[in-house]
Amino acid sequence: MTDRVIAAAGAEDDAQYDAGLRPRTLNEYIGQDRVRDNLTVSIAAARGRGEALDHVLVYGPPGLGKTTLAYVIGNEMGVPVRATAGPVIEKAGDLAAMLTNLQQHEVLFIDEIHRMAPAIEEILYPAMEDYELDIVIGQGPSARSVKVPLQKFTLIGATTRAGLLSAPLRARFGIVHRLDFYEERDIHEIVRRSARILDIPVDEDAGREIARRSRGTPRIANRLLRRVRDYAQVRADGRVTLDVANAALKLLEVDDHGFDEVDRKLLRTIIDKFSGGPVGVNSLAAAIHEEKDAIEDMYEPFLIQAGFLDRTPRGRVATARAYEYFGLQPPEKDSRLW
Ligand code: ADE
Repeated sequence: MTDRVIAAAGAEDDAQYDAGLRPRTLNEYIGQDRVRDNLTVSIAAARGRGEALDHVLVYGPPGLGKTTLAYVIGNEMGVPVRATAGPVIEKAGDLAAMLTNLQQHEVLFIDEIHRMAPAIEEILYPAMEDYELDIVIGQGPSARSVKVPLQKFTLIGATTRAGLLSAPLRARFGIVHRLDFYEERDIHEIVRRSARILDIPVDEDAGREIARRSRGTPRIANRLLRRVRDYAQVRADGRVTLDVANAALKLLEVDDHGFDEVDRKLLRTIIDKFSGGPVGVNSLAAAIHEEKDAIEDMYEPFLIQAGFLDRTPRGRVATARAYEYFGLQPPEKDSRLW
């Protein structure tokens, strides 16, 4: 994956910082009000009844706080969170072991749950629905099925692509929430909070500028904040003023919209090589040397929401706004096939 400063996928050096920056309670969690309000009710109700929280599916673009939310939920329920990820579960037995080790009301968090192998996924169906494992012993005519009871637990699944989840799995989540890109004022609040925790002096207008260029994504905001802090320390007196923030962001090649060179390359390639589109995502991926999944999960969602890219049944299309961004004249609408 490209090592871009505004990539929303977690990078190594984010991990240690994020641990300190992550909100631990719903009260500390900024933004996503609808999700937070709903979860507050669900959690209070489950606690009031002395039950496990219903299984939760959280989906949305990377960097918006899906993992954070899983740990917040665990904390609010007063239980530990056992974490794994779809692609790392290699054998059915690995998942079965995790499930049987869960204590009452504990949370099992499965990140990238859409990337679980189908045979492994099937173990989850009876586990989620009836809190039991169906284990088949032996083979052929002598094979028999043994049921192993589980403690009542909560599965929290996270995915960037709810559409890739199988219908039976999706149907077993009682609580489903989509995380959206954050409002600029919420990101600004997150920048303020992070600056306070990391003890970085950030002027109000500088914080707003960092927020504005963070693509509505807390992970990017926190990363930009750290890079701007580096710049302030080395090229100024440590204080993040608006001038310092602007200069640092310029050096990082993060532009006014929060785009970096991958975004520009993606849009420019559609315009120059594919006459503005429509172009299929596979052709686009080959042309810009990026993974198809990375385009769909990481780059596209923000470009679409910001109105620079359209997704049509026949492929991706650069919008008039994308042309204007490069100082180009948009083509006549009906000269293109969309
Ligand atoms: N850090 C990352 N996401 C956050 C959020 N939603 N609220 C507060 N801090 C955060």
